[in-house]
Amino acid sequence: MTHVPFPHGFATQQVHAGSGPDPATGARITPVHLTAGFVFDDFEQARARFAGEDDGYVYTRTGNPTTAALETRLATLEGGTDALVVGTGQAAITVALLGILGAGDHVVAAGDLYEGSRGLLLDNFGRLGISVDFVPDTGDPAAWEARVRPDTRAFFAESIANPKAVVLDVPAVAAVAHRHGIPLVVDNTFATPYLLRPLEHGADVVVHSASKFLAGHGAALGGAVVTGPTTREAFDWSGFGHLTAPAGVLGGISWVERFGPRRAYVEHTRAVVASRLGPTISPFNAFLVQQGLETLSLRVARQSATALELARWLQARPEVASVDHAGLASHASHDVAARLLPRGSGAVFSFTLEGGRPAAQRFVDAVRLFTRMTHVGDVRSLVIHPASTTHAHRSEGERLAAGIWPGLVRLSIGLEEPEDLLADLLPALAAAVPAPTPAGV
Ligand SMILES: Cc1ncc(COP(=O)(O)O)c(C=O)c1O
Repeated sequence: MTHVPFPHGFATQQVHAGSGPDPATGARITPVHLTAGFVFDDFEQARARFAGEDDGYVYTRTGNPTTAALETRLATLEGGTDALVVGTGQAAITVALLGILGAGDHVVAAGDLYEGSRGLLLDNFGRLGISVDFVPDTGDPAAWEARVRPDTRAFFAESIANPKAVVLDVPAVAAVAHRHGIPLVVDNTFATPYLLRPLEHGADVVVHSASKFLAGHGAALGGAVVTGPTTREAFDWSGFGHLTAPAGVLGGISWVERFGPRRAYVEHTRAVVASRLGPTISPFNAFLVQQGLETLSLRVARQSATALELARWLQARPEVASVDHAGLASHASHDVAARLLPRGSGAVFSFTLEGGRPAAQRFVDAVRLFTRMTHVGDVRSLVIHPASTTHAHRSEGERLAAGIWPGLVRLSIGLEEPEDLLADLLPALAAAVPAPTPAGV
């Protein structure tokens, strides 16, 4: 279903788009439709629904009204025409990329990806015959161009990359992709549509872990694929053989013939990839994500502002060797962030302690208010030591090449009072890097 643009500001969209009062009961909040299937009135209605001649629901794996309300809202917030909500962020990335790639295809991906995405590309997609090259310097469009091959079918990157807060120059990388007829897929989990709408800057497909900032409460997992920019012409998918070949489910015509070159991808991805692989979100979790989404702008604005305040404070501390936050002039992405992220450069960043891994261990063990957890975008502030957890399976050489130093600590800033967070960080820094004792004392 194509969503009709909802011409209001972001804060209005996040509480209204996609959900009016329930026509059956008058309930103001979208009901949680916990049902496997939907009743057909008669033989003819069942036939028409299977034939796609009737928009009604059939079975929750292929569509559910609670999930559909969230899809409309997310499409609106991202400035897209269509959204597809699935069970997790990993499922969203899998579905989005398998809607494009098949055996023998090649993908060029950012070197600084979430480790789960990197493993998905290397291990899972590798076994399916899809190869990947990683771009070490994502900020250099020439480095993307240099990796394009005749069989390259997708570019994949994060808008703000995990964990060093590298900001993708979306227009520059999209321009390279489009010169070669390749779509750019952007994981917008860390930025959220409040800080950046990649579709408006040239991306063709946006994916999310909705488990993070979109939900915010940390009570449910979810994922989303959003496509179809509303501000420019959508990507032309007619160069993709699986979308131009006759399709059995369409009675022998192709996806491009049936839906046109701009919509072929999303229709195929929904009907053939997502509903066949089956990573369906529970309507209950879709409901929970929707509740979180209603306060997205307020949370992300505040979390980003607090994160920048803490990053500046940490940068001035003697215990800290460096801070990776794109809002700081010292960060390599500072100029890109200033251009693309005027509302703030996110609430997840890293810093490196003097004293290496032992100092990081003391710091992580000393915090009281920060929660030790592998998660980001929560209303609570979180801390993790990447080298011993998320990046532990990489060789030390790989970690160092990626800037995952032994003393690097990642923070995800929540909604607590900034002064309470500072009051937690100060003694933890002192515990991590004890002040040198003056000689002779
Ligand atoms: C940037 C990014 N993308 C995708 C994912 C995967 O999301 P999920 O945990 O919802 O599967 C994560 C999870 O941490 C992430 O940080």
